[in-house]
Amino acid sequence: MKPQPPKIGSLQSLFEEHRALQAECQQWRDWWTELSEMGAPHFGEMGDRLATFREHLASHFRHEETDGPLADRKTPEVRALWQDHVELLSNLDLLIDRLHACGPEIGCWGDARRDFESFLDRLCQHDEAENRLMSAAGE
Ligand SMILES: [Fe+2]
Ligand SMILES: [Fe+2]
Repeated sequence: MKPQPPKIGSLQSLFEEHRALQAECQQWRDWWTELSEMGAPHFGEMGDRLATFREHLASHFRHEETDGPLADRKTPEVRALWQDHVELLSNLDLLIDRLHACGPEIGCWGDARRDFESFLDRLCQHDEAENRLMSAAGE
């Protein structure tokens, strides 16, 4: 089946969402650095804030999968992106659970920070790949 013509309004709004997400990722990195410099981080509060971020991401992913310019495409590249969504949300869920269970013991904070940094890196790579595919779909 021939792919539907790209939804241009949706393409622009998804690019906007990616820009906003990138800014949000930077805020997370800054906030995490500030907290760790202050010492004794509040793991539960981090978990709660990440849970809000998770909902934001889930709604962005739904937007891409149901209404974005790639929504109707069934190529392996697009399937891989949707699979990323499942894995990214599941990684974040694990991290949120771990933060809620985290005590002041040595190692917990460093591990959580390292995992969250790699989560953010992976999310950025995902969005960059998506931007490339969405741009190609819009041509
Ligand atoms: Fe995505
Ligand atoms: Fe995205």
